[in-house]
Amino acid sequence: MKISDAMVAAINDQIKAEFDSAYIYLAMSSYFKAEGLDGMAHWMKKQYNEEIEHAEKFIAYLYERGARVIIPEIAKPKETYENALDVFKTSYAHEQYVTSRIYKLVDLAVSEKDYATQSMLKWFVDEQMEEEDNTSSIVSKLEFLGSDKHHVYIVDRELAAR
Ligand code: FEO
Repeated sequence: MKISDAMVAAINDQIKAEFDSAYIYLAMSSYFKAEGLDGMAHWMKKQYNEEIEHAEKFIAYLYERGARVIIPEIAKPKETYENALDVFKTSYAHEQYVTSRIYKLVDLAVSEKDYATQSMLKWFVDEQMEEEDNTSSIVSKLEFLGSDKHHVYIVDRELAAR
């Protein structure tokens, strides 16, 4: 069954969202690097790599369906943050936003009875659950420990292990 034009457009839009996410995390990594928080910079760099992989997964899927991939313009990300907590709160909110986007794609695939796309999206539904969990647990940890430099450094060292 041929994939619909609407579905192709929606997935191309999501490819852009994944590249935008990658850039947001790369900018967060750069912020942490400048703040001397190398563990957090490393964690965000890994996150950047994951987002590129997400974009590539969607690209590979469109190729598999014989559809045209549009390589998007990437939005310039925000460069400055108040502190580490602010960064992780922003990334948690961003992941919630991405989840809502993935759910909309699922809704479209269901309404079109596009079972192949539904099956592909299952991976992203699970991945989003993990992404939200990862970022929200770092937010909880930073909130629990407080903004004291010594405590932020403890979390920084922990995130270096990712
Ligand atoms: Fe590609 Fe973090 O969602």
